[in-house]
Amino acid sequence: MAQYFSEENSVEAFVSRMTDDVDPRFKLIMSTVTKHVHDIIKEIEITPDEWERAIDFLTRTGQKCSAERQEYILLSDVLGVSMLVDAVNNRRPPNATENTVLGPFHVAGAPELAMGTNISLDGIGESCHFRGRVLDTDGKPIRDARIDVWSDNAEGFYDVQQPGIQPKWNNRGIFVTGEDGAYDFVGIKPVSYPVPVDGPVGDMLTGMGRHPYRPAHTHVIVTASGCQKLVTHIFVGDDPYIDSDTVFGVKQSLIGDFVKVDEDAVVWRCEFDFVLAPVE
Ligand code: BEZ
Ligand code: FE
Repeated sequence: MAQYFSEENSVEAFVSRMTDDVDPRFKLIMSTVTKHVHDIIKEIEITPDEWERAIDFLTRTGQKCSAERQEYILLSDVLGVSMLVDAVNNRRPPNATENTVLGPFHVAGAPELAMGTNISLDGIGESCHFRGRVLDTDGKPIRDARIDVWSDNAEGFYDVQQPGIQPKWNNRGIFVTGEDGAYDFVGIKPVSYPVPVDGPVGDMLTGMGRHPYRPAHTHVIVTASGCQKLVTHIFVGDDPYIDSDTVFGVKQSLIGDFVKVDEDAVVWRCEFDFVLAPVE
């Protein structure tokens, strides 16, 4: 006898429609996602009105997307999903530097600069000397590691958010280590800033009583031959949002030590070593 769809067998009814030749991973993803969605509807007995609002939210999220704006990634970020995908895919040895969220403001092809270069082209912000080493998990320096850095200026905007206002490549650069694995450059002590809130994700945050801020951070991608790619931040520990990052990106080990030095033109110093895990 045919098994028609019912509340009790909804998941089995859905799964049984997929044919045997379906890609096994795709089948697993569709079955599992559907099981959880059906469970949500049964558990909290979603009303038609609530479901309509959910569809409207997703519709507006899609409509907000453009070549410059990815509202779905932002949604994934504020739900903690981006951090979770990152966590399950980057289980590292305990002494390796941890990953965190990439975010939307990385731009490939930043200029490769000599060590010590000042990347704050607009001079807006308190200058900060960043230095440290790139090491392997045995503590040996890694040569030819590429350190790609970017941050906002002290007004809370990335260069790409203010074309024509900030100079191109403001607060960005790539540094390549020598034999000693050392790096250093001058940037600014970054400041906290809100994620974009003029779309449905902003409305959702407001609805949940959440603020949209990310605590101050400098982004870094470190790559080296034979090592896992490190996508991370150095966070400013005394930032008011350090315990409530709207995208859940903070990890204790990524909080940098920003020390006030007031040496020549440099106000702050942050020493931070990056420890890369070997490729498995
Ligand atoms: C960022 O840190 O650049 C960022 C991350 C997630 C969402 C928005 C911005
Ligand atoms: Fe950022």
